Amino acid sequence: MYDFKIAANDKQSLYRDLASALEGLVAGEPDGIANMANAAALIWESLPDLNWVGFYRNVEGELVLGPFQGRPACIRIPFGKGVCGTAAQSRQVQRIDDVDAFPGHIACDSQSRSELVVPIVRDGELIAVLDLDSPGTARFTAEDEAGCVAIAEILARVI
Ligand code: SME
Repeated sequence: MYDFKIAANDKQSLYRDLASALEGLVAGEPDGIANMANAAALIWESLPDLNWVGFYRNVEGELVLGPFQGRPACIRIPFGKGVCGTAAQSRQVQRIDDVDAFPGHIACDSQSRSELVVPIVRDGELIAVLDLDSPGTARFTAEDEAGCVAIAEILARVI
């Protein structure tokens, strides 16, 4: 088992340590599912105030549930639907302070109050989205967004 102790006081250091731990975890491993599974577990262990973190993969133009941590979730999400489908279709990060105010939000877990979804793109193709949910309103700041974009860039090469 891998034991990472990531406990930085500021978010910049936290995400720097997280990115470097992730680089170590995925180094030399070509299996995308294994890498997504370890990434979800690492993020879950490292970031406070999450109730769900994981991946939806682009399977023939539909988002299909991938490796995650948290409660069982919706399996298939069409492009353009919900926060994840909006991120997939627009290829823009979605950082939602209050999911109840997002038209069409898909409530997989009624505990979720805020959400951050980052598209993962390789060679112009959307591979997956990384989805983080929190039970706290406005949990995700611009620093979280930048940190998770950096994580998505690492993952784009190895999933
Ligand atoms: N809330 C998401 C669905 C996925 S779950 O949060 C795990 C959405 O609206 O796309």
